[in-house]
Amino acid sequence: MNRVTRWAVAAVLAAAGAAAMAANLPEVVVYKSPTCGCCGSWVEHMKANGFHVKVVEEDDVTAFKRRFGVPGDLASCHTALVGGYVVEGHVPASAVKRLLKEKPAAVGVSVPGMPVGAPGMDGPAPQPFSTQLFDERGRARALESYRPPYRW
Ligand code: CU
Ligand code: CU
Repeated sequence: MNRVTRWAVAAVLAAAGAAAMAANLPEVVVYKSPTCGCCGSWVEHMKANGFHVKVVEEDDVTAFKRRFGVPGDLASCHTALVGGYVVEGHVPASAVKRLLKEKPAAVGVSVPGMPVGAPGMDGPAPQPFSTQLFDERGRARALESYRPPYRW
């Protein structure tokens, strides 16, 4: 193979790899308020990490949180459904991928509140935060802890 052909083959393989990655990831359906800006930033974070994202806009955010079984003390802004799990708030894409791979017995995962520094929550003073797995009884346990500087 000459250099140009090799480059073309590499480019095709890279594109195929990206497509295969997206194909292997389940679609993310995000329920959010139409006025939520940080929710949109989280959607961009998920897209940048290979997920297809469908956005459903609803004014009453507490209604869908209740419907999907998000415990009140773990609530954030948006709520997403991914591969049978509920993903609440600014959960890093890497944590969602880990969830899909390890398939723990849980209803979902949350980053409670809206900590500055979490994906989609840009701000001057990033703070440590953690992802919380929760079950159908509202019990939570920490999945992973993050502290700045972050590498997404
Ligand atoms: Cu938010
Ligand atoms: Cu949000």
